[in-house]
Amino acid sequence: MSEHLSIALTKGRILNATLPLLAAAGIEPLEDATATRKLRVETNVPNTSLLLVRASDVPAYVEYGGADVGVTGKDVLLEHSGRGLYEPVDLGIGRCRLVLAGKPGVDLQTQRRMRVATKYPAVTADYFARQGKQVEIIKLYGSMELAPLVGMADVIVDITETGSTLQANGLVELDDITDISSRLIVNKASMKMKHKTIHALMNAVKSAVKENTK
Ligand code: PRP
Repeated sequence: MSEHLSIALTKGRILNATLPLLAAAGIEPLEDATATRKLRVETNVPNTSLLLVRASDVPAYVEYGGADVGVTGKDVLLEHSGRGLYEPVDLGIGRCRLVLAGKPGVDLQTQRRMRVATKYPAVTADYFARQGKQVEIIKLYGSMELAPLVGMADVIVDITETGSTLQANGLVELDDITDISSRLIVNKASMKMKHKTIHALMNAVKSAVKENTK
């Protein structure tokens, strides 16, 4: 019997780009993972299942052994403080940037304590600490672009891909914080205990990523 392997993924844009990478490793869901309401989907490989969880929960599933492997954004990983996982492969999908944004002409040198709305409080605190700036961070779970419009925050820290959400809400990029892409992450114990299976998966995915970037 083959070793059990579970892979934590997130529904949405990234899933469509991730499934071909898994297919290259010979793993294909037995039902449409993008449409099902099931949270665990079996695959054509015996004992290998996909777990469909929230993006921000993928690191926890992998760190605590709920899943052996996962796919999540570097933004989520930067925000996740745990150390119980490896991040061996940059999948080169889900590319976007983490930026500081606000209304045009916003005064970043203001003497008053700026308010920053973000889904990424740890990354944001670190970014401003590196500049020696004290800011007040307002944690939001989405639609950050609204906060400066309604006067609730001076600026936001958020990911941007095409820039159209910022533009549609009259905001501009003020600083480029870091590049983001999706990563394959692996539970530390699984990497040891299921070495053969996980290395085969990693190598197949790496080759598929190489093909994609040719
Ligand atoms: C992300 C992000 C921006 C938008 C940027 O939100 O928070 O709002 O995408 O993309 P763009 O630069 O291509 O316009 P997402 O759609 O993931 O939803 P969320 O607000 O629920 O996080």
